Amino acid sequence: MRIYLDNNATTPLHPEVLETLGAALRDVYGNASSIHNEGQAARRLIEEARESVARLIGAAARDLVFTSGGTESNNAALYGVLAASERPHIVTTSIEHPSVAEALRGRDVTSVAPSRSGRVDAAAVVAAIRPETKLVAMMLANNETGVLQPVAEVAWVCRERGIHLHCDAVQAAGRIDFDVESLGADTVALSAHKLHAPKGIGALWVRRGLSLAPHLVGGAQERRRRAGTENVPLAAAFGVAANRARDQGVREQIRTLRDDFESRLPGTHVVNGADVPRVPNTSNVTFPNADGEGIVIALDLAGVAVSTGSACSSGRVEPSSVLLAMGLTPSEAKSTIRFSLSRFTTAAEIDVVVGLLETIVPRAVRS
Ligand SMILES: Cc1ncc(COP(=O)(O)O)c(C=O)c1O
Repeated sequence: MRIYLDNNATTPLHPEVLETLGAALRDVYGNASSIHNEGQAARRLIEEARESVARLIGAAARDLVFTSGGTESNNAALYGVLAASERPHIVTTSIEHPSVAEALRGRDVTSVAPSRSGRVDAAAVVAAIRPETKLVAMMLANNETGVLQPVAEVAWVCRERGIHLHCDAVQAAGRIDFDVESLGADTVALSAHKLHAPKGIGALWVRRGLSLAPHLVGGAQERRRRAGTENVPLAAAFGVAANRARDQGVREQIRTLRDDFESRLPGTHVVNGADVPRVPNTSNVTFPNADGEGIVIALDLAGVAVSTGSACSSGRVEPSSVLLAMGLTPSEAKSTIRFSLSRFTTAAEIDVVVGLLETIVPRAVRS
């Protein structure tokens, strides 16, 4: 039996999601733009899914565009806004996901670093805004530390000054409660595979009345914001996952397990972001002088999946840029492990992982 604690990289499917997906792939093959029965069945399913995903973030369904995932949602929002201005100045944070950071590369960007806790100071973001700033891009929850960022505190300043605020909420949706109005962003990116739905589907919420250049042109699908025949089964799966993700009890159960795990961690260690608000499922831990890669491999051999840094940067030997931005040394960053829990994590699994760490961590410490 494997123990999977890498749910910030991706999650296994919820059984109900799998059932919905299978049934839709088999039965709902119509094109949602067709007027016949098969087409209308597909249309109903996708609109029902849109309602469900919108409800997760307190939004109106008609303001939600289905995309192929978080990367496309982030790219669509950023390129859509930037298409409208010549040489815009952009404010962002130095802990954004590559799907935001790379989309802004080569532009006139001011990047605001977080504190040692992993939280970016709202006042520092506001201070970086210039008269020619057109866009602020700021994530809601960081993928490596789970630390929540003060997006709402920045939002009202952006609103006052007519600056577009984009928020990557991929790691926050379904893990904490938020609604688009109190968040105050103009565009919000979501991804389904972080909440027990399949890879390859996401959504972009766009504030009503906002004109955003479409990133895919062709047919009139998705209110002309994203051309291409809709993937109805994936959207339906996302809808069911969004409904399940609203369960507060599950979030509390995950938080209890995570807090219990952290209270039982062996040896000298630092839980990064423990002193600031975080999503309930993430534990980012530095074991000083330990070989993080060695711990990941030893845990994997023992049946446990965890990660060092983000999935996108693992496979490369460089230390996590998020941890470096927080002020960890390269050696500390390489001694850091991300444990990310889900609704399927059990107390018995936490017992096993704590037990394994008690033997693995001391062996991984460099003398
Ligand atoms: C914070 C964040 N933004 C965006 C993405 C990209 O989402 P997707 O994998 O659906 O393209 C991820 C995925 O790792 C993420 O963690």
